[in-house]
Amino acid sequence: MKISEFIQSVQWKKDQLILLDQTLLPEETVFLSLSTIEEVWEAIRFLKVRGAPAIGMAAAYGLYLGVQNNHENNVSTFIEDLEKKSDFLATARPTAVNLFWALKRLKERAYQEQKQGSNVEVIKKILLKEALQIQEEDEKVCRDIGEHALSLFQDGMGILTHCNAGSLATAKYGTATAPFYIAKEREWNLKIFVDETRPVLQGARLTTWELQQAGIDVTLICDNMAAVVMANQSVQAVIVGTDRVAANGDVANKIGTYTVAILAKEHKLPFYVAAPLSSIDLSTPTGKEIQIEERSEDEIMVGLGKRIAPQGIRVYNPAFDITPFSLVTAFVTEQGIVYPDKAGQYSSKLQNLK
Ligand code: MRU
Repeated sequence: MKISEFIQSVQWKKDQLILLDQTLLPEETVFLSLSTIEEVWEAIRFLKVRGAPAIGMAAAYGLYLGVQNNHENNVSTFIEDLEKKSDFLATARPTAVNLFWALKRLKERAYQEQKQGSNVEVIKKILLKEALQIQEEDEKVCRDIGEHALSLFQDGMGILTHCNAGSLATAKYGTATAPFYIAKEREWNLKIFVDETRPVLQGARLTTWELQQAGIDVTLICDNMAAVVMANQSVQAVIVGTDRVAANGDVANKIGTYTVAILAKEHKLPFYVAAPLSSIDLSTPTGKEIQIEERSEDEIMVGLGKRIAPQGIRVYNPAFDITPFSLVTAFVTEQGIVYPDKAGQYSSKLQNLK
């Protein structure tokens, strides 16, 4: 069976960035047309576009939008503007390294062109081309991750995932969900369990939505039920995405991932992290140095359409956590599956990838 029903969450059409507003799913399917860098910043900040690869893609288009009307003759002045706009977009969210990776990739392309003596109009065309290229590459990266990840699973298995590392968070297929889509194409019957993923409910609102549309066998559970589906043997493996992998293999991902990894260890289940190379950040030595975004207390205080905690209560709302590398069974990248070395370390293995 071919899965044709992929809704593209990020599209470039007629000089505009078209984003599926992920805050409105699953009730409404609304596409936003953005034509300014400020709008793109806001869309990233307020989760209209979310998930590390999609954030990177949106940022690349956003940077182009930020400079597209700059008709400066002087290339150095144009580059200064590009850097300023990049710095601005980089403030949208701190944890997903794909944001910084994409901005850096565009800037480096501009520097190359500057060196070769290209004028501003040519550089702008190259920037848009690069943004489109990032998106095109991401689809292939996800497909490759899916093929590698599927080799870890068998027909009929139950698999738990957390948050949304799905098609909505990428160009297509998702990272952690890619093996589910490929399994469906091959008429396998994987049974996918999805944590709701408090407080923003990416699992309940987004992952179940996209898997259901593809006809994949999907069951929603509350976050606090993960131990039970492991204990009663409904699931035999866990796979999640990541916002950033540090050089030692520590993993930043949606809050709750660390808990799931501990539970998987206790139940002797493999815990896999689907990680495109664009999410592996060798410049950050360990998880301790990864900045964890803290979001508004309203995400926790307001739920089920009403206030669910007393006014004035103190709230702590980290959007991500760090899973220590020792809990990761393997990383699944587009280049293949990466297991730790004999000493249980990932550093040299991850370094060899780039
Ligand atoms: O806050 P979000 O929704 O952007 O967090 C998303 C995640 O944590 C995903 O698991 C991660 O970005 C990987 S998406 C392929």
